Amino acid sequence: MIEAHGLTKSFGPARALAGLDLAVPAGTTMCLLGPNGAGKTTAVRVLTTLLRPDAGWARVAGYDVATDGADVRRRIGMSGQYASLDECLTGRANLVMIARLSRIAKRKARCRAAALLAALDLEQAADRPVRTYSGGMRRRLDLAASLLGQPSVLFLDEPTTGLDPRSRLTLWGIIGDLVAMGTTLLLTTQYLDEADRLADRICVINGGRVTAQGSPAELKARAGTSLLRLTVSATVSLARAAEEISEYAAGPVRRLAGQHGLEIPVVQRPGLVTEIVRLLDAAGIDVDDIAVRPPSLDDVFASLTGPVAA
Ligand SMILES: Nc1ncnc2c1ncn2[C@@H]1O[C@H](COP(=O)(O)OP(=O)(O)OP(=O)(O)O)[C@@H](O)[C@H]1O
Ligand SMILES: [Mg+2]
Repeated sequence: MIEAHGLTKSFGPARALAGLDLAVPAGTTMCLLGPNGAGKTTAVRVLTTLLRPDAGWARVAGYDVATDGADVRRRIGMSGQYASLDECLTGRANLVMIARLSRIAKRKARCRAAALLAALDLEQAADRPVRTYSGGMRRRLDLAASLLGQPSVLFLDEPTTGLDPRSRLTLWGIIGDLVAMGTTLLLTTQYLDEADRLADRICVINGGRVTAQGSPAELKARAGTSLLRLTVSATVSLARAAEEISEYAAGPVRRLAGQHGLEIPVVQRPGLVTEIVRLLDAAGIDVDDIAVRPPSLDDVFASLTGPVAA
């Protein structure tokens, strides 16, 4: 449904896209994950025909963004990084106006607006000017606007940035429902938990190109080491325990504060804990407790979006 090959775009000396490749099958969700300045918004603007690439090509819903822009625009919805709403109009009036601008007939425009206001839990505020809306309400109204044309492909640029945890959950639920109904979604985010929750596949972008990609689980597994916490009987020397399992350590081993034990970075895999327990048992070391903690989301993001490899 979305396909891009070798997209490049520079703004003067700044290279925003440096050969971006993407492929998003119909009915799936792709997340572009990357830090500030990675090129996420630029990619979305190229794919939604708002910006011409310097080189490369992209097709959305089967149409070339460069030569069939109008066909692309008829099939997509887009909610930008900064909500584009008229502050003086009410929520309802904003939606009706946007629908009318997209040549939807008056009666149908009113119907769609009412249905979306209800779906996005904005009925109460529908007839208040947007300048009285909170950030979360604006985001939901902007999402409603992007859905007026019943798009088959939806682009959301950082849909939940700046929202409180509850508003994020609400929005995730709404977005999840859209995807369940078959919408193809490309969203950008700086938050791995958001990508984890919503995406089938994640493309990590940095410096305008894809630096890693895969399912959320694949990326987490790739991105880092887990931490094994091991406590042993007080009669066992920690140095000896560390020595016994040194071949499993994927980084520096630390002593656990306040306990007779060790914290060891390991590459998690099925059967690892059993193997280590057997090894220690064979060496006559009594294990009191052993547990593996997966890398935190912050560890993963840091390792995936670190400096671009030269
Ligand atoms: N209109 C523009 N004029 C000049 N430079 C631009 C323009 N748009 C983007 N850039 C530059 O291109 C690079 C990528 O910007 P882009 O907005 O695509 O990043 P982003 O991943 O969306 O970042 P953020 O997370 O901050 O939204 C940045 O270095 C930015 O300064
Ligand atoms: Mg951006």
